[in-house]
Amino acid sequence: MGKKRDRWDSSSEDETDDNNTKSTGRDNKSSKRKPTSNEPNTRYSEKEAVPSSINQDTPPRLSVPLHNPLLQGCRSVYDTYDRIARLSEGTYGIVWKAKDLVTKEIVALKQIKFDPQIQQQQGFPVTALREINVLLALSHENIVSVREMVVGSDVDKVFMVMEFFSLDLQEAVERRKYPNVLRQAELKGVLQQILRGTEYMHSQWYMHRDMKTSNILVHETGRVALCDFGLARRYQDPPINCTQLVVTLWYRAPELLFGEEKYTPAIDIWSIGCIFGELIQQEAMMQGQGELDQIDKIFSMLGAPDESSWPEFSSLPSAKIFRWRSASSSAASTQGLRQLFPINPPPHFKQTFLDGNGFDLLTKLLTLNPKKRITAKEALKHPYFHKGVAPALPNFFDDTML
Ligand SMILES: Nc1ncnc2c1ncn2[C@@H]1O[C@H](COP(=O)(O)OP(=O)(O)O)[C@@H](O)[C@H]1O
Ligand SMILES: [Mg+2]
Repeated sequence: MGKKRDRWDSSSEDETDDNNTKSTGRDNKSSKRKPTSNEPNTRYSEKEAVPSSINQDTPPRLSVPLHNPLLQGCRSVYDTYDRIARLSEGTYGIVWKAKDLVTKEIVALKQIKFDPQIQQQQGFPVTALREINVLLALSHENIVSVREMVVGSDVDKVFMVMEFFSLDLQEAVERRKYPNVLRQAELKGVLQQILRGTEYMHSQWYMHRDMKTSNILVHETGRVALCDFGLARRYQDPPINCTQLVVTLWYRAPELLFGEEKYTPAIDIWSIGCIFGELIQQEAMMQGQGELDQIDKIFSMLGAPDESSWPEFSSLPSAKIFRWRSASSSAASTQGLRQLFPINPPPHFKQTFLDGNGFDLLTKLLTLNPKKRITAKEALKHPYFHKGVAPALPNFFDDTML
């Protein structure tokens, strides 16, 4: 076996020779890959000015045409890509940074994890199949694009080749902590792009079901894209029963917490509301310790639902078994939320100011009743994006601009 073959075949534990290959856990903040100034290639060395408007400069996408595995068969990873670094190791796979041997383009390879026991029963892992299917069906600049699938020597070595992004949004938020908080235009720019990707995805009848900052990628140009479609699925109208075991707790919509099985893409919109708040606060907004605590945090911030604000609430499976502190949850009040995003912030306020329009949009994203929650399409028309400072591509890379 040649050297390249060895590199792709070695297990995740024996990565002592790679630059930056130390493992990083899924959603484990402390162990995620950290930006460093001496990192090779594209990640932080090429400094770019921040274009003033998102609509002006459409960042480049991969130039090589999609390889069609149905027509040509999957190429071998050894002949096509050189491994550079391990970016992350999660529940469903390892993500590598790699270089195309011919074009020299930098790409990301998600190596699908095979559990021998599950493999025996189910064959190819279902989450990976789901992700590949959904991503091949979607094509939008705010959704990560898949280039091809490549295979290794064994049947259990399969890689999804994607365009490469320098950071995920969780890492990006870390880079823009006080005093380098996001400018208003950048905040609008990030949110607008997330909503554009989501509007497109929902228009194609897919819901993501795991929207959170670590599942959103940031390109050096400031382009933002949704990724990790392992939990995504098609939806229909009227909705049908789906599993409730979706969405990471801190981003989970109230209808899911109360056991709704016929949920809709509105669950993604709730998560976007949480992400919007996180971009401003520089940490996750509602960090519940369990489902009950999560519900408590939501109601303390937004008030508890009542007959008029959410008539269907009382018939949700878990509505009766949960008791929440009624004292802290006055009906349909956004007072708790206002305290976090004040109209008159004190001097030396440590977060980006959210004006009236911004606050209005946040409350519409974080509406308890999923039927009344704003849609991605409506949110994009909200005055927040069309009045005042215009949305701009964010800059998470050039330290001199921060
Ligand atoms: N195309 C990509 N470019 C750069 N980094 C990526 C890319 N895709 C994923 N990552 C990184 O790998 C992490 C895990 O990938 P993800 O698709 O979310 O899988 P998991 O199911 O393990 O969460 C992401 O949070 C991100 O940091
Ligand atoms: Mg993920």
